[in-house]
Amino acid sequence: MNPQADLPGQEHPMRPIRTSLLAAALALAALHSAQADSGHMLPRHVPEAYTQECAACHTAYPPGMLPARSWQRIMAGLDKHYGTDASLDAATVQQLSTWLQSNAGTYKRVNEEPTQDRITRSAWFERKHRKIDATVWKLPSVKSAANCAACHAGADKGEFDDDHLRIPAGLDARMRRNWND
Ligand code: HEC
Ligand code: HEC
Repeated sequence: MNPQADLPGQEHPMRPIRTSLLAAALALAALHSAQADSGHMLPRHVPEAYTQECAACHTAYPPGMLPARSWQRIMAGLDKHYGTDASLDAATVQQLSTWLQSNAGTYKRVNEEPTQDRITRSAWFERKHRKIDATVWKLPSVKSAANCAACHAGADKGEFDDDHLRIPAGLDARMRRNWND
């Protein structure tokens, strides 16, 4: 805070400056939270049913990683869910669908609906993982790009930043060296 801003008589001339400072501060805050996103991506409140049902077979994917339309389609087609049956009772579907859509990704890069409504087919996902060798995804310890926890130790808590990376078993020496740069 600039104490001079409160001096009488300076209030008017100061206002435009204060406004632009505020705008700058807000822009910084937005930038900061966008970055913090990759560090902790799950909303504060996660319904118990999400952890119990949707994280039974895979990572509890953060809602912010897909746009609302993708979540809507996923929740409408649980009986044919990527080759498996993930059906739930109507009330739970309704509850989770609402929660997923209201916490869905909104910033531009998440707005496009990826192929098959897969996080792993999003442009941002491919960009973030472009340095990973094709053979890594096929390691028995990884099996699929959708298996986030193979490499992101904190995946179920929404932690995807570099501090929570782990090296999947079976990575050869060359790839180990390139892992975290
Ligand atoms: C019976 C097991 C099972 C349950 C329960 C289940 N899923 Fe899945 N899910 C799968 C499988 C299998 C895949 C495909 C994984 C792969 O390609 O490696 C998948 C993939 C996904 C993907 C796409 C991952 C990617 O490739 O980016 C999303 C999103 C997803 N599930 C959301 C959900 C949600 C939301 C729920 C809860 C309503 C749920 N799943 C419950 C088995 C399940
Ligand atoms: C084979 C290992 C592997 C798998 C599986 C994997 N990731 Fe990653 N991911 C990485 C590595 C390594 C990085 C760091 C890349 C870098 O910094 O150059 C990364 C980076 C990221 C980042 C960017 C983090 C940041 O701070 O910029 C996000 C977000 C992310 N992964 C999400 C996911 C999600 C979601 C899944 C599952 C759907 C997933 N990853 C699956 C290895 C993996």
